[in-house]
Amino acid sequence: MSAVCVFTNNAQKNISGNVVFTETKRGLQIKINISGISPGKHGFHIHEYGDLSEGCGSLCSHYNPNGSAHGGRNSKERHLGDLGNVIANDKGVVDMTIYDRDLSIKGKYSILGRSVVVHEREDDLGLGGLDKDGNIIDKVVREESLKTGNAGKRIACGVIGYKKN
Ligand code: CU
Ligand code: ZN
Repeated sequence: MSAVCVFTNNAQKNISGNVVFTETKRGLQIKINISGISPGKHGFHIHEYGDLSEGCGSLCSHYNPNGSAHGGRNSKERHLGDLGNVIANDKGVVDMTIYDRDLSIKGKYSILGRSVVVHEREDDLGLGGLDKDGNIIDKVVREESLKTGNAGKRIACGVIGYKKN
């Protein structure tokens, strides 16, 4: 069984793409294809709702069923929806496959009916506003890092549904 998210709400006309989710022995396989975004890293998350009534904004926050702080995909503490960054090549294309051990299509941490959001900027993975010794150097950046990763605007989003065979 697979699920799919097609990016239907995009900040620019040339942005397009989709994400295909498949349950495998390695966990949830997440195949990401995006084109038309700027080269480099972009925050990439599962957001809580599948509500596009006010565009990407009404998808609300990162999927966070355990009330955790924001992090990265491999952080000890993270929102379950925190999938780190996607990396676009110099042509603005993302072609990546990642795996996640916690999320699933059905079951306790089901992603069905939720959404995927691609952000304008790099997600700092919950490490923003700190110096290299872990001291807080910017309170505002630090606070936002623990909520959103400072990834900025939502440049593409869509709702996750069952994929046809
Ligand atoms: Cu997000
Ligand atoms: Zn998060």
